[in-house]
Amino acid sequence: MKEYRSEIRRLTNQDKRGYRWDYCDSSLSSFEESFAVLLPRGEKLKNYVEQSLAHRAGEAIGIELGGPGSSLFSGFTHGFFKKTAGIALADQRRFFDYDPTDKDTMRNHTVIEGDILRRSTLRKIEQEFLQGEKADFIIKRMVGGDFYLPCEPFFMGGRANDYYQMLSRSRGLMLVENPMAFWDLIDVWGLHSHHNNYGLEVDVRTNGSRGGVMLRKLADAPEELPLLTVEEVREIVGDKGKYSALSALFATPS
Ligand SMILES: C[S@@+](CC[C@H](N)C(=O)[O-])C[C@H]1O[C@@H](n2cnc3c(N)ncnc32)[C@H](O)[C@@H]1O
Repeated sequence: MKEYRSEIRRLTNQDKRGYRWDYCDSSLSSFEESFAVLLPRGEKLKNYVEQSLAHRAGEAIGIELGGPGSSLFSGFTHGFFKKTAGIALADQRRFFDYDPTDKDTMRNHTVIEGDILRRSTLRKIEQEFLQGEKADFIIKRMVGGDFYLPCEPFFMGGRANDYYQMLSRSRGLMLVENPMAFWDLIDVWGLHSHHNNYGLEVDVRTNGSRGGVMLRKLADAPEELPLLTVEEVREIVGDKGKYSALSALFATPS
């Protein structure tokens, strides 16, 4: 039985405590490193978020997609967020060196289990967490988790639109790290979003090892996230698109 356990751990990439990932519940400063290139030089992520959402202080709602968000949200000023949630495949907090569940509950932080590629998870977020409200801050930095996302641009564009729908028009801020497969597309998409003046502020940057997008949703932002057309995607992706389309077959939202 012991050998089976270690084999199962090896196959599922878990360590002895059941962790599957090197990064499990990263701190705010770890997220800051990932998104530094999108922040004004030398600016702290905490200050940036709290200052740019100052009009929502005490009422702000935050979501981490692809992570428990416990340590991340505990790094913000106490009371800045009214409520926060981390969305992860499994709630593994009891396996952490220190189980933050009680402290999370006191801070009004919750972990919702689910696959962010599935509409059923998004419905769960809307019904159980947002309850008719919109999020002021959405952050996604899955590190190794990104390797498990399908590389099909239209499928993932659809999911990006789902996350955009959850964001508030009151200068809602979204910070997203993207799989490398999409960097070319996202660079062009970022330029289009600037030029077409969609009622969005979009900043797209890569720093050589990470492709990030900062999006701010303004009052006159469109209902749907403006995406590249099939022709534009084909021009950028070329033949690679034929193969990546297959991966979408394994990731149908339900
Ligand atoms: C490497 S950990 C990163 C955790 C956290 N974002 C951090 O930076 O510390 C990857 C996380 O992505 C989550 N994840 C991977 N694929 C996911 C999916 N399809 N839906 C929801 N969460 C996912 C896992 O549950 C895990 O919490």
